[in-house]
Amino acid sequence: MENKGTPNGAASISIGGKDLGLPILKGTLGPDVVDIRKLYGETDVFTYDPGFTSTAACESQITFIDGDKGVLLHRGYPIGQLAEQSSFLEVCYLLLNGELPTADELTKFERTITLHTMLHDQMDRFFQGFRRDAHPMAVMVGTVGALSAFYHDSTDITDLQQRTISAHRLIAKMPTLAARAYKYTIGQPFIYPRNELGYAENFLRMCFAVPAEDYQVNPVLAKAMDKIFILHADHEQNASTSTVRLAGSSGANPFACIAAGIACLWGPAHGGANEEALNMLKEIGTVDRIPEYVQGVKDRKYRLMGFGHRVYKNYDPRAKVMQQTCHEVLAETGHGDDPLLKVAMELEKIALNDPYFVERKLYPNVDFYSGITLRALGFPAEMFTVLFALARTVGWIAQWKEMIEDPSQKIGRPRQLYTGPAMRDYTPVDKRG
Ligand code: CMC
Repeated sequence: MENKGTPNGAASISIGGKDLGLPILKGTLGPDVVDIRKLYGETDVFTYDPGFTSTAACESQITFIDGDKGVLLHRGYPIGQLAEQSSFLEVCYLLLNGELPTADELTKFERTITLHTMLHDQMDRFFQGFRRDAHPMAVMVGTVGALSAFYHDSTDITDLQQRTISAHRLIAKMPTLAARAYKYTIGQPFIYPRNELGYAENFLRMCFAVPAEDYQVNPVLAKAMDKIFILHADHEQNASTSTVRLAGSSGANPFACIAAGIACLWGPAHGGANEEALNMLKEIGTVDRIPEYVQGVKDRKYRLMGFGHRVYKNYDPRAKVMQQTCHEVLAETGHGDDPLLKVAMELEKIALNDPYFVERKLYPNVDFYSGITLRALGFPAEMFTVLFALARTVGWIAQWKEMIEDPSQKIGRPRQLYTGPAMRDYTPVDKRG
């Protein structure tokens, strides 16, 4: 991928009496970008943008978000259409390859992923090294990183075939690793993947089956799980994806890069928010306590978890699908009258009409309803971020591949505004006052 942004005029900047023209590039959609690559070389000045609020760190053809309109497109396709009409593995193919597969291509891709679902047998011993009460995200960071030690034949990033195999391995093995992380914490035997089952079905079985009896996966719940995976598959240059790109820019192998992404996702401001959102709903407990809780948010004692987004200043389009999926799952599992759902719906209604939230354009994000849904599917809160990591792996690996395959790719190396001490002489310890 070479720079495809088309020239769209120039911006001019005057620094220290020197005028400099900076090209403006136009993408297919979204804001134009000012190309500042020559700025430092020609003016000895950096730009300053902590948190990347105004900075496009790369060019990408995978995902587009219009945060003001609440639009999310993967390779041009709206997330709502994909969630309703596609399957997670088809979305994986789309993200990796740029186009929807033909029927033959999809069958072949599904088969390829299925053939990689097992783990190297020695991998299982890794789990024994963790405490039983370890957070499953800690287990995921460790075991995904450890894949680098088991699959040497797919760590040469200069080899297209090895890159492709590592992508397939990661997508295929994440459910097996995630299910093992869960089984380990509850002290149950690991359940091996079954190749005749679909991706989500297989994952639910590996999580909830026990060797002592047969287990039938509920198709409604498998469909809901698949939809949840689609909703989390990619989200352009979010913190964990940028972490994967930065780690990968040094030439690190893909398993190590995805482990770095998992570590970043873990934080409560990112993937950890679904767990926090559920904890918040539990803490509120009943509808009558909502006003008091909302007042605490306004007094800045805490944030409303599952609300707000750096990019969406409108309803997160994933949250709409998630809300509907939440109702479907609760109805199917007989939790339709879950008091937490009542709290969530009332809280949403109040927040959407309260000037504090309206003025700040704070809307529910994907995590607001995902916690209740995942809980009804049978997962404990500690597993929520693990499920996010499982689904986001395809986005991470597609973005990593795109970066490696971009001939203009360079190691990521941000600069800084240094505000520490200027140069000074070392003083021996007996001379320090
Ligand atoms: N509750 C209350 N106030 C909030 C919230 C919130 N959840 N989010 C932002 N604000 C306020 C914030 O206090 C600030 O107000 P003011 O201008 O008066 O100081 C204003 O809105 C802008 O906030 P910000 O921190 O500058 O916004 P940001 O773009 O840096 O933060 C965010 C984005 C997602 C970190 C933040 O909205 C947040 O902490 N949300 C809760 C955590 C959450 O749900 N995260 C999941 C994001 S979606 C899944 C994912 O991508 O991982």
